[in-house]
Amino acid sequence: MSSECNVPVKYAYKGANLISFGTSIKLLFTGYLVTIAAGYIMALIQILFTHGMADGQFGLSLNDIVYSYYGDRSGSVLESKLNGSMKFNAPDEDRFKIIQWVRDGASQEEYDATIKPIVEKNCLMCHNASAGSIPDFAEFENLQKLSESSEGATFQSLTRLSHIHLFGISFIFMFVGLIFSFSTGVPCCYKYPAIVMPYLFLLIDIASWWLTKLNPHFAWLVIVAGVGLGISFAFMWSVSMYQMWILGGILKQSDRRNAIMRD
Ligand code: HEC
Repeated sequence: MSSECNVPVKYAYKGANLISFGTSIKLLFTGYLVTIAAGYIMALIQILFTHGMADGQFGLSLNDIVYSYYGDRSGSVLESKLNGSMKFNAPDEDRFKIIQWVRDGASQEEYDATIKPIVEKNCLMCHNASAGSIPDFAEFENLQKLSESSEGATFQSLTRLSHIHLFGISFIFMFVGLIFSFSTGVPCCYKYPAIVMPYLFLLIDIASWWLTKLNPHFAWLVIVAGVGLGISFAFMWSVSMYQMWILGGILKQSDRRNAIMRD
């Protein structure tokens, strides 16, 4: 047992906290925080590319989230085109037959029996293999693909994504939170919520995917949870870095508080 007077002068004002930790621990923590921040930015870019383009326009909007999870149930591309820019390419009678076929599930049998000749007569002069940018309707699959309405994310993909996110992200916040726990002088009314919020928002985030899959009105909850997660991450990250390198490194502040035993 060493008593207070045995402590060398050099360490007299040091405690278990971010300001007083040795450089090796600070480097270890910093390496982790910097790498995780890079991962966070990559995740945001990925969200922008996968979900951001869902409604056909760049940038993340409420519609993107609805399309990604709930889908666009308003109908198929084929039907909306036949009522839109392709309206005058076939007589009404033929258009209605195609639309009826789409609504009946776009089966191959029905296609062979009635739809194929209609498409050959009215559409193939433009929609053929040499057309380039527009789909070739000589291939049944190309026509069928456009007859499906989007149902958004599938239950399989949601369960897979949910468990990966719950395991992975809670692990990340275990360490970010642990490092941040060693900070001193942060009022408890900020410190406690910052540590708890990531887990809370993570659970809300995952729950909101499922809720949006069932009802598009929950799309805003996905955004609220994502922003909450981001804010608590940014707060813990900057406080930790600030205490280690500015307060402890540049300003050489001393701090003998023990952040493990008390806040
Ligand atoms: C006069 C040429 C022409 C004819 C005839 C024509 N199309 Fe088109 N079609 C186009 C062009 C050009 C586009 C791309 C521009 C657009 O989407 O309006 C297009 C786009 C489409 C699209 C959207 C494809 C996509 O990937 O978004 C569908 C669906 C479609 N046509 C269906 C039909 C059907 C069904 C017929 C026959 C009843 C038909 N078209 C006849 C020229 C034609």
